[in-house]
Amino acid sequence: MIDRVLLSESAISSRLDELAREIDARYAGGEILAVGILKGSVFFLTDLLKRLRSPVALDFLQVRTYSGTSSTGNFQVVRDLSTDIEGKDVLLFEDVVDTGLTLRRLLELLASRRPRSLRIAALLKKDLPENRDIPVDFLGFTIGPEFVVGYGLDLDERYRNLPYVAIWDPTK
Ligand code: IMP
Ligand code: MG
Repeated sequence: MIDRVLLSESAISSRLDELAREIDARYAGGEILAVGILKGSVFFLTDLLKRLRSPVALDFLQVRTYSGTSSTGNFQVVRDLSTDIEGKDVLLFEDVVDTGLTLRRLLELLASRRPRSLRIAALLKKDLPENRDIPVDFLGFTIGPEFVVGYGLDLDERYRNLPYVAIWDPTK
């Protein structure tokens, strides 16, 4: 059911090189608290962090919004951070911004804990009117509305370990 490769391993790799340079420039040597949104962001996060020169601390949280190929509209923090983020420069890592619900709710929650700064790095953003308000500071690629898998992105836990991003087509 993999329709076609949308982003090859080498396309992702070159884009990560550029993003790492942008991030290093923005933080100018200050420590970044990288926060991965489990589980989809893990491949993107580790590959990107390995490219940074800035000092980095790492934490994770897990939320649930999706079931199969559609957003449920519910938002639940399944596993919270283990660090106090007050006064820290937090950089949130997301795999894909779809409806924007996850980030909208997380930004609200994390901002209430008074970090010094709170920014977003996302591998993918779907070009949709409903997520236009989500401020992605470091974006890998803008894509269409299709459901995609690979490089961390799953369909009910499958396909995460594909080294590329592919379009999933149920008719294939
Ligand atoms: P949002 O809350 O609607 O922005 O959706 C964000 C979450 O939904 C992502 O972190 C993914 O886990 C999941 N998601 C949205 N679109 C896709 C997709 O095309 N493939 C795989 N997962 C997706
Ligand atoms: Mg998922």
